[in-house]
Amino acid sequence: MGKVTGLRCPKCMQRYPVEIEGRLCERCHYILEVEVDLSSLHGKGPDYFLNRAERSIWRWREFLPIEKAEAIVTLGEGGTPLLPVERLRRDVRGAEVYLKNDTVLPTGSLKDRSNAVAISRAIEEGRTVVAVASTGNAAASVAAYAARAGLQAVVFVPEATASGKVAQATAYGARIVRVQADFDGTVRVYGKALKAFGWYSCDSSNPWRNEGKKSYAYEIWADLGGRVPDWVIHPTAGGVGAAACWKGFNELYRLGWINRLPRIAVAQPAACAPLVRALEAGWDEIRPVEAQQTIAESIKVGSPSTMAWCALRAVRESGGTAVALSESEIERSQVLAARETGIFAEPAGAVSLGAAIRLAEEGLLRPGHLVVAVITGHGLKQPRTDLALPPAIPPDLRMVERALQVR
Ligand SMILES: Cc1ncc(COP(=O)(O)O)c(C=O)c1O
Repeated sequence: MGKVTGLRCPKCMQRYPVEIEGRLCERCHYILEVEVDLSSLHGKGPDYFLNRAERSIWRWREFLPIEKAEAIVTLGEGGTPLLPVERLRRDVRGAEVYLKNDTVLPTGSLKDRSNAVAISRAIEEGRTVVAVASTGNAAASVAAYAARAGLQAVVFVPEATASGKVAQATAYGARIVRVQADFDGTVRVYGKALKAFGWYSCDSSNPWRNEGKKSYAYEIWADLGGRVPDWVIHPTAGGVGAAACWKGFNELYRLGWINRLPRIAVAQPAACAPLVRALEAGWDEIRPVEAQQTIAESIKVGSPSTMAWCALRAVRESGGTAVALSESEIERSQVLAARETGIFAEPAGAVSLGAAIRLAEEGLLRPGHLVVAVITGHGLKQPRTDLALPPAIPPDLRMVERALQVR
């Protein structure tokens, strides 16, 4: 199991004991990160992990901050396919692009990587009620893992959250609080409720939760046969995925198992792109933006937590970039992912593919570059509501011919 030595502020590096209340740095108020001691792995070498039959994120359990094996709550999350996109080779100008298909995770989104760890930690701490504020996917995920563990989940979602995601969380038995606000407003009232009721929070202020997405790095590295991608592209809202992926690759680097690091690119809708704005303006801090309407609902976060600063740092340290996609680019990404690669993603989940195409057009992805774009959420979670279904026909072959216009 992973061995936790303490918590640390990612900004000023001040160290804290695990028991600290609030999990924020007392000096800079940044969300703390867990320090996992990896020294026992130095003598081991990569084959120690690569030869394991386990395919979930727990294949990498020594990297994850859970100390009691019996506390692990799992639905088999992780080990998702890494699929080449041969038919889009021209769109990505000859780069070797793979899609990491996280739509097949147990609740259909990347959030399961985090919540398997968050809920396992809740069990270690003996907590009984877990909560989250979410654009929808984390709500469904927390609800599922809470159900698995026999805990009560309380989830806060903006009123406009796709009904499929709310239905999913409801099915798992969560108590649902729909708030007449967008995500940023929902987070504000959620924060007050947390203080009032003392629930265990599975949002991005939970350092244990944030470690779960390091598993991207290990899986990508293993599935590429030890090669390191030139680029990893991640749909980004709170920034946890991009920051954790960077952290995971850095751990492999420090162990001496890889000899270079990928560039990290974050992809956001132009309608709500605080990281892109901060990078372009050269700001150290991320300033909130007023979120505009976007079909990439899950990543519509105008005022992200300090984890977004960690993502921005990952972009800068890695020599990466941040891409803002127009609504038509996002729509096209979703269509291409479905029709040309067989992956049905929600719009937010496919923005990484659109970003790969844009970066190729801009010459940042070059022929032969090895690129991984993470596809983060399933299309069934946010189905189109404007789709006109074809009229139903009588069960008659002639009517089939007419419907398909084959004669
Ligand atoms: C489908 C999807 N992709 C990406 C993200 C972004 O996650 P992160 O907080 O890791 O930036 C989210 C967050 O809600 C999401 O639901």
